[in-house]
Amino acid sequence: MEKKNLDWSGIGFGYIQTEQRYVSNFKDGAWDNGCLTEDSTVVLNECAGVLQYAQTCFEGLKAYTTEDGRTVTFRPDLNAERMFDTAKRLEMPSFPKERFIDAVKQVIKANEAYVPPFGSGASLYLRPYMFGTNPVIGVKPATEYQFRIFVTPVGPYFKGGAKPLTLCVSDFDRAAPHGTGHIKAGLNYAMSLHAIVSAHADGYDENMYLDAATRTKVEETGGANFLFVTKDNKVVTPKSSSILPSITRRSLITVARDYLGLEAEEREVSFDEVKDFAECGLCGTAAVISPVGKIVDHGNEICLPSGMNEMGPVTKKLYDTLTGIQMGRIEPPKGWIVEI
Ligand code: PLP
Ligand code: COI
Repeated sequence: MEKKNLDWSGIGFGYIQTEQRYVSNFKDGAWDNGCLTEDSTVVLNECAGVLQYAQTCFEGLKAYTTEDGRTVTFRPDLNAERMFDTAKRLEMPSFPKERFIDAVKQVIKANEAYVPPFGSGASLYLRPYMFGTNPVIGVKPATEYQFRIFVTPVGPYFKGGAKPLTLCVSDFDRAAPHGTGHIKAGLNYAMSLHAIVSAHADGYDENMYLDAATRTKVEETGGANFLFVTKDNKVVTPKSSSILPSITRRSLITVARDYLGLEAEEREVSFDEVKDFAECGLCGTAAVISPVGKIVDHGNEICLPSGMNEMGPVTKKLYDTLTGIQMGRIEPPKGWIVEI
């Protein structure tokens, strides 16, 4: 497969249009057969459910070229499952999990020339999404939907690459108790835009959100879960019913325990104990593991001992092992790598 002539190692996290995307429509209670199309536009009625009441959700996963030239993707079954759960919570029809995985394979295969070469530092980001298409004016779910997957080659999510980030503790809440924080609804991101623009304007890379009810516990950022390392090398990730169940974070817990022999626990993390951790990172499909060097809480600076120059040592081992599995250098746990 001849790759496109792109500056693979220079691309950031942006949209580069590729040739093919997958589309399936839901009407009269059933999904159609779905197909690949070259049409990157979506034409909707002015009153479509997604436009009026934000009935939309999405997923994110990546495809990679391995060292020996295979094209692979990482745990698409978990994205299928999460989108299934998200759709249920939003009163949208669930897209069958086996069809989700089949569509993922089709769209990667059709855009194989855009899967960045091994060693470039880039990957192919897949964006499955679904939205209500028919006119809805009373507040109720749409009855017709479109499911699509487009792909785009991406580089690092944060501009500095592996340079540690500075976060601020947000005055805004991301998710309410019993709300939608645990699903990948577009509305969670729409309401975070003001917070991220404000954080950037103040010179921060991202927000740390605390739990909305007590503002004492660490939740997540706008697009990634937290991972902490204690001074005695234990991996700790915040547990909350209002954060997204990150596939990267769940995978890193297995990597920590089964590959690195570290203790790993998922538990509530109070903001007060953040100052005692040795390392901190943001984990997600886009973020991979992005190290955090400093967290600022209304002028009070918490500087992680791992500093502002590089990833902490445990974070680095987790990063190397996870990406080693994703890029085919390290034997994966059963079912994690799906070959295209
Ligand atoms: N948290 C939020 C709010 C996200 O948007 C994402 C991105 O998908 C994550 C966490 C990380 O999840 P995953 O590792 O499944 O990509
Ligand atoms: C992902 O990591 O896939 C996400 O959806 C996060 C988003 C901020 C790009």
